[in-house]
Amino acid sequence: MTGGHHSVEGYPLRIWPSSEGQPPAFDGKRSNIAGFSPRPRARAPSGLRGFWEKTCISHEVSSMNVMRAKWLGVSSPINVCANLSHPREHPLGVKSVSAIKNHYEAGFGRSLDVETEILVTSGANEGQYSVFVAFLEHGDEVILFEPFFDQYLPSVTFNGGVPVYVPLHPQTADVSKPTGHDWKIDFDELRRAITPRTKMIVLNTPHNPVGKVFTRKEIEAVADIAKEFNLLVMSDEVYDCLVFDGEEHVRIATLPGMWERTVTVYSAGKSFAATGWRVGWLIGPESIIKPTLAASTRIVFCSNSPLQEAAAAGLERAKQHDFFATQTKEYAERRDVLTKVFDDLGMKYTLPQGSYFVLLDISNLDIPDDYPFPQVLNGRGRDFKACWFMAIELGVSSIPVSEFYCEEHCNIGEAYARFAFCKDLDTLHAAAERLKKLTKYLKKKN
Ligand SMILES: Cc1ncc(COP(=O)(O)O)c(C=O)c1O
Repeated sequence: MTGGHHSVEGYPLRIWPSSEGQPPAFDGKRSNIAGFSPRPRARAPSGLRGFWEKTCISHEVSSMNVMRAKWLGVSSPINVCANLSHPREHPLGVKSVSAIKNHYEAGFGRSLDVETEILVTSGANEGQYSVFVAFLEHGDEVILFEPFFDQYLPSVTFNGGVPVYVPLHPQTADVSKPTGHDWKIDFDELRRAITPRTKMIVLNTPHNPVGKVFTRKEIEAVADIAKEFNLLVMSDEVYDCLVFDGEEHVRIATLPGMWERTVTVYSAGKSFAATGWRVGWLIGPESIIKPTLAASTRIVFCSNSPLQEAAAAGLERAKQHDFFATQTKEYAERRDVLTKVFDDLGMKYTLPQGSYFVLLDISNLDIPDDYPFPQVLNGRGRDFKACWFMAIELGVSSIPVSEFYCEEHCNIGEAYARFAFCKDLDTLHAAAERLKKLTKYLKKKN
């Protein structure tokens, strides 16, 4: 088979081997295969996961222990699986794509074609990966706003893409109670990051890890740039069901001229607190969904049918249970448990308007110089040490935020630790009790 580029309505679809021949030689800077890389900051899958396994107690429970919608429980999961053993079978009469269509049409303000504009994937991750497989040519640049969900990086580089990092700037110094709105894009910087090789912008709102819900104005400005430079947009909206304080969740695909160039990513794992289901979905125009389906078919063939059915049932029945509004209220209560303890300690944090993360400013944490840190933290930022210290001394785990930045910008992240509040209230109260002990490790204010 010879290589070549195929064009799908203006966007080239990658065919392997590419007409450019072999991928460029390894530049020695970044790889995600531990053991083959001379880089100082080995990354996922070994990076964060290794850190958690080695250090973090996560309040003695798994990372997410919030019960999914109990009304979605089934008495005999084995029977359900047996009845749904083929991808196209839907004995309950609910087709996942139809449920997705019905759930999202109002939000998108358009009718969605179940055959060509919706793709069910094995989690948001696989959906995003498949988009990169379908669209990235070697050397294509992808704009990632930092801090970024760590999975984007290997998904881009595994497919020959080149990540280009544009940091959100925390303008929190003079703000006593910062929120996600205080993390801002410098739009001139974004423009400067665009080159003739830029193919795509990845936007994530509500944002992991900042909890920022991008404003309409910000999203319009991103959209204008995408249109001006003819870029694809991957809009990761997996936390769209978790928006607090009456903030508006704006879907970039609904802005003028954006539907054609945007693929929007969702996750049953996030919508129903069921991350183990591994079901997600993409919504976009046929010109993006069709090549992505071609890629996804070769990666996983299709998503497992019993859990597609569970996700479909969730979307179909959510309204009658007032599920999303109730869930948001419950998460807001969980958020308050964490933020109250940080308020009581006098520590600064970024109040999230969406998602389930709080960024704690750890700059006034006084970590003893002679603390016995393990070798694995050598060369890592101060935030890694702070997270280790809190895990060992308090028994509460958090994620060092420099992990969500490229090397050049990781100093921005080093001032923060990310705490997750996707836990039940008992666990969060227990964590809050333990966090109170931080008081002895805070630098005295002048
Ligand atoms: C921003 C963001 N996008 C995508 C995902 C992946 O979602 P899924 O579990 O459906 O693959 C996550 C999971 O943490 C996330 O935080």
